[in-house]
Amino acid sequence: MRRPYIAGNWKMNLTPSEGAAYAASLAEAVAKEKPSCRIMIAPSFVSIPAVLEAVKGSDIIVAAQNMADHLAGAYTGEVSGQMLLDLGVKTVILGHSERRQYYGETDEIINSKVLLALSLGMDVVLCVGETLEERKSGNLENVLKRQLEVGLKDVKPEQMEKITIAYEPVWAIGTGETATPEDADAAHKFIRSTVAAIYSSSIAENLVIQYGGSVKAGNVKALMAKENVDGALVGGASLSLEQFLPIITYDK
Ligand code: 13P
Repeated sequence: MRRPYIAGNWKMNLTPSEGAAYAASLAEAVAKEKPSCRIMIAPSFVSIPAVLEAVKGSDIIVAAQNMADHLAGAYTGEVSGQMLLDLGVKTVILGHSERRQYYGETDEIINSKVLLALSLGMDVVLCVGETLEERKSGNLENVLKRQLEVGLKDVKPEQMEKITIAYEPVWAIGTGETATPEDADAAHKFIRSTVAAIYSSSIAENLVIQYGGSVKAGNVKALMAKENVDGALVGGASLSLEQFLPIITYDK
């Protein structure tokens, strides 16, 4: 049985004080509502210490949105996995399409980050997803296959329990456009079969696959009802309690 896993990617939003205030109210709401899903929030690096403090004692996972592809050294402006671990952050989102699109992260770079995070014992949410052009030209499956095969290269079968995949079609991110539950399920099914081919059917069966792209209170239920949709990676609608609480309590 795969436990539903819903995450909020704050991107470059909320200052440390805004983030801490919101995270404290989220922790309070979670204590009251007791959602059945696993919950994660990913603030910006500088907000992490204040947010960790604000959710102390709750089960909310605080993750990073990215990390460096090197352990330590002369890499100005970068944040290492060890620095995150030292704060108490054990989960990292890698390969987000905004990292791929705006910061030139290739599948190879993302793979080295995945391997590094796993070597440090961290949990990884690996993002994959196609652009509109790639979908329209019939390349959806080729793109997902490449992102998974290269992104997971040299990841050992026993490390796969540390991996969550987030399927985020680029055309659905921040656009208000959502993949239909059927489209999402089909892509997730393909991701699961690709992982089964690389590893095994039992690893694929246990793999948690989140959907991301304009997830909101109004569409989360229909998405989560699909067999292969095990969670959500929420951007815009994760930035306030008003919008995020109904998402994490979608099954109430
Ligand atoms: P939106 O929910 O704002 O479309 O963002 C999705 C996303 O990129 C989450 O990582």
